[in-house]
Amino acid sequence: MSTHKAPVYLSLFSGCGGLDLGFEQAGFKGILSVDIDAAALAVLKRNLKLNVQELDLSCGDPTLTEPIDILLAGSPCQGFSTAGLRKVDDPRNSLLLVAPRIAKKLQPKVIVAENVLGAISGSHATFWDTLHQQLRALGYRTGDLRVDSSDFGVAQKRQRIFLIAWRTNATQELVLESKTKKVLSDALANLDGVANHEPILLSPDSNDFKIASRIGQGQKLTNSRGGDLSIHTWHIPGVFGRTNKLEREVLDTTLKLRRQLRRRDFGDADPVSVALLKRQFGGEVLQRLLAKGYLRKVGPYVDLTHTFNGKYRRQRLDSPTRTVDTRFGDHRLFLHPTENRAFTVREAARVQGFGDDFIFSGTAVQQFRMIGNAVPPPVAHAVAGLVRRLL
Ligand SMILES: C[S@@+](CC[C@H](N)C(=O)[O-])C[C@H]1O[C@@H](n2cnc3c(N)ncnc32)[C@H](O)[C@@H]1O
Repeated sequence: MSTHKAPVYLSLFSGCGGLDLGFEQAGFKGILSVDIDAAALAVLKRNLKLNVQELDLSCGDPTLTEPIDILLAGSPCQGFSTAGLRKVDDPRNSLLLVAPRIAKKLQPKVIVAENVLGAISGSHATFWDTLHQQLRALGYRTGDLRVDSSDFGVAQKRQRIFLIAWRTNATQELVLESKTKKVLSDALANLDGVANHEPILLSPDSNDFKIASRIGQGQKLTNSRGGDLSIHTWHIPGVFGRTNKLEREVLDTTLKLRRQLRRRDFGDADPVSVALLKRQFGGEVLQRLLAKGYLRKVGPYVDLTHTFNGKYRRQRLDSPTRTVDTRFGDHRLFLHPTENRAFTVREAARVQGFGDDFIFSGTAVQQFRMIGNAVPPPVAHAVAGLVRRLL
């Protein structure tokens, strides 16, 4: 038994402490938080007043002698995420198995691992399955819990998978208590004078501003998809060059055909036959679009020069946002709902469910990285509630 009254946890891959914060708020006590990232640990230490250790967990174990009740391990997701290259042999994937290694030594009663849904799909699932097997071999019962943050009072769609392992007599189902839904306007209310909130409007002379001005809430810049939510480069002549009606018709048709007439089994679209387009529209218009840079030649085919598969996505005030990732502060990917600018650090933190008293430091890149990596504290709080029941 631990000597502390509150159940004690060791946190691995703690980042700036999203998961830790939820557990602290639920009455658990962090004994040590470990990560390789010094900037994230500095933020965790400042806000949560917990002991931290900077350590590469691929080759070392935390220095801890006290017993623990709970082990938290939200290992990196980059190798599993569909937003990345998803390489099975990404060395970060095997960091999932640090948890059983440490659990074998420290014998916690409950273990919580967290990752993106990509960790349980395709050949990548081997790591997750091995995690279950190794923990079962150590005498734990294990189960998965699929969570969408928007069910826990977080104004964001963020799907994640949790593995819960326990070695108590508890037999209850792995379910979390949900909370009232929130939308982006809830998260962005009353921001004046709040720390880490320094909005910078895009310069009206910039191409980024001209693009952003054309994109409404829920819309994005893309030449890969059609429909009302897609703005194409030929809709923004001030940046990409003027076109006439026939030229736009050719571009719209090319956009459709490059998805409809697939030949390859990779990517999501293929270049379109010049002969086919020539038959429908004549050769002259194709030559003009090549000269204007809207089309490019690929052997006997043409393709759209810019495909922009979902850039400058303007988030909607009346919905949860898309998943906050480490690039949430980049206006070329995520646009503020009503202003022509990127989200600030505080706005990203609000959308993740951090309170305004949680202060971020480091470079902008570091701050957005630690926020995008975090488990939303309200989700962590709900998981902590389940862990308490299991204990
Ligand atoms: C998904 S984030 C964890 C987020 C954290 N649980 C939270 O809620 O804020 C993964 C973390 O693993 C850390 N990390 C990556 N490789 C590591 C390694 N080899 N050793 C220790 N930490 C590592 C990263 O710095 C990052 O903070």
